[in-house]
Amino acid sequence: MNLKIAVLPGDGIGPEISAQGVEVMSAVCEKFGHTPEYAYAVCGADAIDKTGDPFPEETFQTCKNADAVLFSAVGDPKFDNDPTAKVRPEQGLLAMRKRLGLFANIRPVQTFKCLIHKSPLRAELVEHADFVCIRELTGGMYFGTKYQDNEKAYDTNLYTRPEIERILKVGFEYAMKRRRHLTVVDKANVLASSRLWRKIAQEMVPDYPEVKTDFMFVDNAAMRMIQEPTFFDVMVTENTFGDILTDEGSVISGSMGLLPSASTGEGTPVFEPVHGSWPQAKGQNIANPLAQILSVAMLFEYFDLKAEGLLVRKAVDASLDARVRTPEIQVEGVATYGTKEVGAWIVDYIRKA
Ligand code: IPM
Ligand code: MG
Repeated sequence: MNLKIAVLPGDGIGPEISAQGVEVMSAVCEKFGHTPEYAYAVCGADAIDKTGDPFPEETFQTCKNADAVLFSAVGDPKFDNDPTAKVRPEQGLLAMRKRLGLFANIRPVQTFKCLIHKSPLRAELVEHADFVCIRELTGGMYFGTKYQDNEKAYDTNLYTRPEIERILKVGFEYAMKRRRHLTVVDKANVLASSRLWRKIAQEMVPDYPEVKTDFMFVDNAAMRMIQEPTFFDVMVTENTFGDILTDEGSVISGSMGLLPSASTGEGTPVFEPVHGSWPQAKGQNIANPLAQILSVAMLFEYFDLKAEGLLVRKAVDASLDARVRTPEIQVEGVATYGTKEVGAWIVDYIRKA
């Protein structure tokens, strides 16, 4: 299979982890007889510096013409400290989502046995937690009409029926592929937009008789996630709630540096780590490349290349077992490995497998 991949390294540790993702992708492709073709493009603060635009037209075209995007991270403190900055790296991310029509953000929350002790939750609570949050990504408050003057400000949480139906469909279908339990997360006791979500979800329930569907208010869901994370299988929710809950999800697993995500919809799908650009670590060869590498597994799986995805996951597990780990997850007293060294170990494992 030919795979045209747009590679968007972005900012901070992005370029370093991106390089490892590409190496791993190439090694797997070589093994299975696929031909990857990489097209690099700029985004985020890097793109602002070079072109003035965090998601320039040329980058959009590169993404549009690819089969998939391997994205790393955007963000730079020089913009965070300037709330008046008109152009910000994060706008590039939002523009990419909107222009590629990536309405479904899929964020798995999965634990790794050897990292359970890193969870802020007691091990017995979080062990075996394995769920997926499906977050709507191109609607709601992020994109609704905004207004701000000195005395008042608002953001509009607008959702239309087609937008709600298509994301709920992704949720139901994901549940069918997993343990057939879908939790629709909303705030239907207060918000009109949530009431429409719930109404539409209830209309769709009979189409998926094998799925056990339940409804949960977002405040309750935030609580349940730390009280009993194993309760969840697939949760589906709107953009803003999903933003908040997926940060919570990534940290309870104790393995934030290991979590990949996929954004899919109408245009080219994007695969990226859940973590951000960690600018303080830039260029130091200390960033954990595993979330990026696992994004490559998700990329293969998206194209139904299951054996390829599985090999990446096996290689990652093996590296953890062999204690080939970056500093933040290394066992005390054991020598740590750099970004490149972890990547190289995994590539070597894949070649020998
Ligand atoms: C995320 C991030 C983004 C979001 C920011 C960087 C705009 O927090 O992908 O979750 O809010 O969607
Ligand atoms: Mg977020």
